[in-house]
Order: sequence, then C-alpha cells, then structure tokens
Amino acid sequence: MENVIIITRPRIYLVTKVLALITAVALVLPISGFGEEKHGGDIWFKNTKKFAPVIFSHDKHSQAGNQCTDCHDKLFKKEAGSADAGNTMTMGTLKKGKYCGACHDGEKTFSVRGSCKKCHIKN
Ligand code: HEC
Ligand code: HEC
Ligand code: HEC
Repeated sequence: MENVIIITRPRIYLVTKVLALITAVALVLPISGFGEEKHGGDIWFKNTKKFAPVIFSHDKHSQAGNQCTDCHDKLFKKEAGSADAGNTMTMGTLKKGKYCGACHDGEKTFSVRGSCKKCHIKN
C-alpha cells in the first residue's frame, strides 16, 4: 500500500496543479478583458486658452451607457489629439453639435452652453 501512495501522490499533485492553472487562466482572462477592445482611458484636451483643461473620461462615458460606436469613428478617431489637430474643436463648433456637442446639447445630456466646470477642471 505504501507504494501506491508514493506513486499516486505526485499524480494527484499534478492534476491539482493543472486544474489550478486552468482555473487561474479562466479567471484572469475575463478580468484582463481578453477579446474585448481596450478603451482609451482619460484624455485631457488642453487647447483651452486661459480656461482650465477639459477632461474626457472613457470610464464615466461607458458607465453612462455610451457604446464605442456612439463616438467611434463618426465623432472621434481612436487617436488622442486627432480632433484637436486642426483647431476645429472649439466651443463654437461644439455648440453647433460637433464633437462633444453631438450629445452635450441640453437634450441628450448637459449642454456645452453651461456647466463649464463639469468639463473644464483644474488637473
Ligand atoms: C461637454 C464639455 C464642455 C463644456 C460643458 C464646456 N466646454 Fe469649453 N471646451 C470643451 C472642449 C472639448 C474644448 C476644446 C479643447 C481643445 O480643443 O483642446 C473647449 C474649449 C473651450 C475654450 C477654448 C477654445 C474656444 O472655443 O475659445 C474656451 C474659452 C471654453 N471652452 C470655455 C467654456 C465655457 C465658458 C463653458 C461654459 C459656458 C464651456 N467651455 C463648457 C468642452 C466643454
Ligand atoms: C462618448 C464618446 C466616446 C465613447 C463612448 C468611446 N470613446 Fe474612445 N475616444 C473618445 C475621444 C473623445 C477620444 C480622443 C479622440 C481625440 O483626441 O481626437 C477617444 C480615444 C480613444 C482611443 C485612443 C486613445 C489614445 O490614447 O490615443 C481608443 C483606443 C478608444 N478611444 C477606444 C474606445 C473604445 C474601445 C470604446 C468603447 C469601449 C470607446 N473608445 C468609447 C470618445 C469616446
Ligand atoms: C455619445 C454621446 C456623448 C459624447 C459624444 C460626449 N459625451 Fe460626455 N457624457 C455623455 C453622457 C450621456 C454623460 C452622462 C451625463 C450624466 O450622467 O448626467 C456624459 C458625461 C460627461 C461628463 C461628466 C462625467 C465626468 O466625466 O465627470 C463630462 C465631464 C463629459 N461628459 C465630457 C465630455 C467631453 C469633453 C466630450 C467630448 C470630448 C464628451 N463628453 C462627449 C454623453 C456624451
């Protein structure tokens, strides 16, 4: 009987280890968002003259129920700085419904005509 135990114990250890590894991989994959596209994090827009810079939070926008396709690529390219590049992203174009103004119009959500300090915050 001694022999059996000596032989089977390492096997049981191996099986346990393999199972633990499979479980670990199965747990970590969804957490790391495998197969899911990573969003762009927090983005600061600093072309604001003497005003405080503007925060854009991917997290908060996702939590508010916005889908990637609500913004990409019809309003924004997936490249920080591209909307800013031509100096066309201003309060003027926002008020005309471009860029952030497509939603921040006072109907879909709070308007760019007020709530300045929700977007322009000191960092
Ligand atoms: C929904 C977010 C948002 C709100 C609300 C908002 N802004 Fe802006 N603002 C922006 C963005 C985005 C830019 C462009 C920044 C850039 O291009 O780097 C900008 C740019 C500016 C600029 C510099 C460019 C320009 O248009 O002259 C000023 C000044 C400005 N905002 C003032 C204001 C004031 C005053 C208010 C409140 C009446 C306000 N903003 C409300 C997002 C917002
Ligand atoms: C409410 C609008 C909005 C939503 C929803 C949104 N994004 Fe973005 N995303 C932006 C803006 C704004 C930028 C910056 C674009 C710019 O500066 O021109 C950006 C930039 C990015 C970038 C580039 C970041 C970098 O550092 O260059 C990636 C990647 C990205 N988004 C992926 C996603 C994915 C994936 C989703 C869905 C999970 C998503 N976004 C949802 C607005 C949005
Ligand atoms: C597709 C629609 C959409 C676009 C485009 C959009 N937003 Fe928003 N945003 C929302 C919604 C919806 C909320 C949630 C408002 C609430 O909870 O009251 C929100 C909330 C916010 C908030 C408050 C939450 C926070 O992050 O503190 C800020 C600031 C903001 N947006 C800035 C911006 C800026 C800057 C842009 C452009 C770069 C932008 N948003 C573009 C839909 C949009």
